[in-house]
Amino acid sequence: MANLKRIPVGKSDLQLSPIGLGCWQFSGKSMSAFWNSPPQDEINAIVKASLDGGINWFDTAEMYGNGASETALSAALQAAGRKNGDVVIATKWNPILRRAASIAKTFPAREQHLAPFEIDLFQVHLPYSFSSVEAQMNRMADLLDAKKIKTVGVSNFNERKMRLAHKILKARGYDLSTNQMRYSLLDRRIEKDGVMAAAKELNISIIAYSPLAQGLLGGKYHADANAVDKVPFMRRRSFKSRLEKSRPLVEALVEIAQNYNVTASQVALNWLVTFNGETVLAIPGATRVEQAKQNCNAMSFAMTTAEISRIDGLSKTFMEKR
Ligand SMILES: NC(=O)c1ccc[n+]([C@@H]2O[C@H](COP(=O)([O-])OP(=O)(O)OC[C@H]3O[C@@H](n4cnc5c(N)ncnc54)[C@H](OP(=O)(O)O)[C@@H]3O)[C@@H](O)[C@H]2O)c1
Repeated sequence: MANLKRIPVGKSDLQLSPIGLGCWQFSGKSMSAFWNSPPQDEINAIVKASLDGGINWFDTAEMYGNGASETALSAALQAAGRKNGDVVIATKWNPILRRAASIAKTFPAREQHLAPFEIDLFQVHLPYSFSSVEAQMNRMADLLDAKKIKTVGVSNFNERKMRLAHKILKARGYDLSTNQMRYSLLDRRIEKDGVMAAAKELNISIIAYSPLAQGLLGGKYHADANAVDKVPFMRRRSFKSRLEKSRPLVEALVEIAQNYNVTASQVALNWLVTFNGETVLAIPGATRVEQAKQNCNAMSFAMTTAEISRIDGLSKTFMEKR
């Protein structure tokens, strides 16, 4: 049952479900250090469950298997009977070891991987290009001028760089719509380092990545510490190091979840999206259909003020630098 509303994204015309689907998990073998990437038929089922659950947008990137995730997403959307324009597509340019000129040079490859779906939100994945923010935003504005994309976002940009990107686009007559940042109950640094406050001031949406702390907030690993040993190794060490510190918070999530007959993951997503009004959208990834179904249903209940404050209090320590 679709039960996700639509919210505006920055000052753009895009109206998105507050929960989208993160597609890093669809990168194939290249990302097996992080994920047990599902086969295409499972990806099709995850995407279909997300659409059925009311999600209307998908986040992918060039870096996710050098286009493998984009291709898998497009195939899954087509298998679900969706056509260009039925859903919103967000993808990202990989700036590593590249200059801004590569934005235009590599854009046709993005279009090919995602075809027949056009790119709505095009993001700079990381603030690590050889070129300045000015040069990158001007090349993004060229794509807007050419009507190849609908709007522009950045990712992992600190407050200063986000403000600068916004200013450069403004000078070209456009707005910066989004900044995709790591944001979860186990990492609330953007609430302290100026990013969240500036995003609210400038009407830039925050797209919260790793909103479930890559699965740690689900409670499974707190219930059975041996389960951590089966996690792909790039996540294992950080799970182990945060297991005990996060236990009081995760136990509270499990307890509150029981009040609504939902899961700890759903409580964590609900809190993250609700706590900041309409500024934050979240893009949980999924490797199984059941996870996608749960995540779409994360907004189907309203917590009490006391429950929201309890979670806020228990997660406050995660505002500090790690
Ligand atoms: N811009 C960036 O730099 C950046 C960086 C990272 C991610 N991202 C984007 O953000 C998306 C999400 O971030 P993420 O994948 O790092 O972390 P995440 O969404 O916090 O965690 C996803 C993982 O959590 C587990 N999970 C998902 N739903 C669950 C549920 N309902 N119950 C229990 N466990 C559940 C699954 O782990 P298992 O597979 O182990 O079951 C899943 O693979 C990515 O797909 C990507 O699109 C962007």
